[in-house]
Amino acid sequence: MKLFLTLSLFASASASTPWPLPANFSSGSAPLSVSSALTFSLPDDAAPSPFLADAFSRYSESISNAQGCSAEAQSLLPPQPSSTPQLSSCSVSVSSPSSDPSLTVSTDESYSLYLALDGSCSISAASEFGALHALESLSQLAGETCTVTNAPVSISDSPRFAYRGLMIDSSRHFLPVRFLEHIVDTMVASKFNVLHWHISDTESFPSSSALFPELAEKGAWSPEAVYSVPDLKHVVDYAYKRGVRVMPEWDVPGHGSWGKGKPEVSIQDGSCTNTLDPTNPDVYDFLHDFLSEMSSVFPDANLFLGGDEVDTSCFTSSPSVSKWMTENNIADGVALQSYFWQQVTSTVMPGLNKTLGVWMADDGIPYPEDLPAGSFGNVWQSQSSMPAVIDRGADVVLSGPWYLDQQQPGGFQTYALQALWQGMYAVEPFSGLTPAQQAKVLGGEACMWGEGVNALDFDALAVTKAAAVAERLWVPQGEGTVDDAQERLEEHVCRLNMRGVAAEAVAQNFCLSDVL
Ligand SMILES: *[C@@H]1O[C@H](CO)[C@@H](O)[C@H](O)[C@H]1NC(C)=O
Ligand SMILES: *[C@@H]1O[C@H](CO)[C@@H](O)[C@H](O)[C@H]1NC(C)=O
Repeated sequence: MKLFLTLSLFASASASTPWPLPANFSSGSAPLSVSSALTFSLPDDAAPSPFLADAFSRYSESISNAQGCSAEAQSLLPPQPSSTPQLSSCSVSVSSPSSDPSLTVSTDESYSLYLALDGSCSISAASEFGALHALESLSQLAGETCTVTNAPVSISDSPRFAYRGLMIDSSRHFLPVRFLEHIVDTMVASKFNVLHWHISDTESFPSSSALFPELAEKGAWSPEAVYSVPDLKHVVDYAYKRGVRVMPEWDVPGHGSWGKGKPEVSIQDGSCTNTLDPTNPDVYDFLHDFLSEMSSVFPDANLFLGGDEVDTSCFTSSPSVSKWMTENNIADGVALQSYFWQQVTSTVMPGLNKTLGVWMADDGIPYPEDLPAGSFGNVWQSQSSMPAVIDRGADVVLSGPWYLDQQQPGGFQTYALQALWQGMYAVEPFSGLTPAQQAKVLGGEACMWGEGVNALDFDALAVTKAAAVAERLWVPQGEGTVDDAQERLEEHVCRLNMRGVAAEAVAQNFCLSDVL
């Protein structure tokens, strides 16, 4: 009896609010039971959409197979009276449908969702990607318990930022393809839409290339720790179908393992044999060819090339690079990096049809004026360096306050998850920016660097904090206080736990997953 009471409390407090909080959300208190044969349909006169058909069958299946719909879970929950109206079908309309929808920073992701007292359900969205968000919101309302507890529900929603990223690092620890699928699933649950894939670094080069197979053959941790080209395409396709675009990154000229597979384009007579040699013209031909091949694997409009933390002693310790610098009046390592990016701009990027992104450090390097017009900088150190980056001509993605692997974001004095998620949640991306500067902020990104994380602890270390960042990037400016978010985040973590995601709990609470 005691257990039953607890679960009743759980059932009434849970499954009520989608995360991130919709821009407009209202709900009542009537129950709807969710049919085990929930179907979705487009209007009769709509063109068939393979993209949405795939999403419909995925959500029909995931909602009816939710852990809370199992007989065991249902036996623990208060039974619904047989007169409870059923949610059994939902109509979905897209106002600007496309047979081949593309997700970019200009995609309209807005949607509305209405669930009536009688169980009727309608979704309308500007694009297929808005429809995906509506389906996710619906699946969250249906909870993991096969019951909507709070009909009628009315949602009118759209994200604050078009770029809501999660960065993962498959160089420090190899992340298997099936785990990348899992990461995408956790992103979808918090409505992230950019997977920034930091594929390679000094530690390993796991991605294959048909043109340059030696990069992975010599650079991977193990022959098994390699993404084949079909694997790479599979991850892109898996994510795309779920409304997540994949932006690949190969960091240059440093933070690489280029020297293992391509010593001829790396500095070989200095202290850093994995750093590309900016003084060697072959480097730029190589990069253009490699990135052209990868552009056909990763169709995303963005390409990320790192550019961070180049150790200038890699240049000065090399007799050949030093000699070249003297002969060419390049004064120091900073100037040589400028030269490198100018070459990338003039000879690597043309023809790739990509918008370039780089890490933008507090020292301003790489300088925006050395990059192609329209490039963006990921501000990964101080948030206060955003105005300078913007004023030098780059768009900005903010990630500095959202390093998921760091345990003291923003100077917080405690290591507790409670303070971490709250600190990350409290960040206001527009802080210190003029309206003109604000217009150059594409969005933000939570970064999970891989030194201390592998597929076994990723969920616990990343997912809850990332969810907090996701809501900050979604809700309108000025909305969303830590106090208001706490209970909903507990609910979201429970929802993720019910889906088999080992997201870390934020506070003492009960979740049905504890007894299933
Ligand atoms: C939320 O509602 C307000 C007031 O009706 C409206 O102006 C706004 O556009 C809505 N926001 C979204 C994202 O639908
Ligand atoms: C260039 O990229 C844009 C956006 O990704 C795409 O729509 C366009 O078709 C591409 N153009 C070419 C020539 O590939």
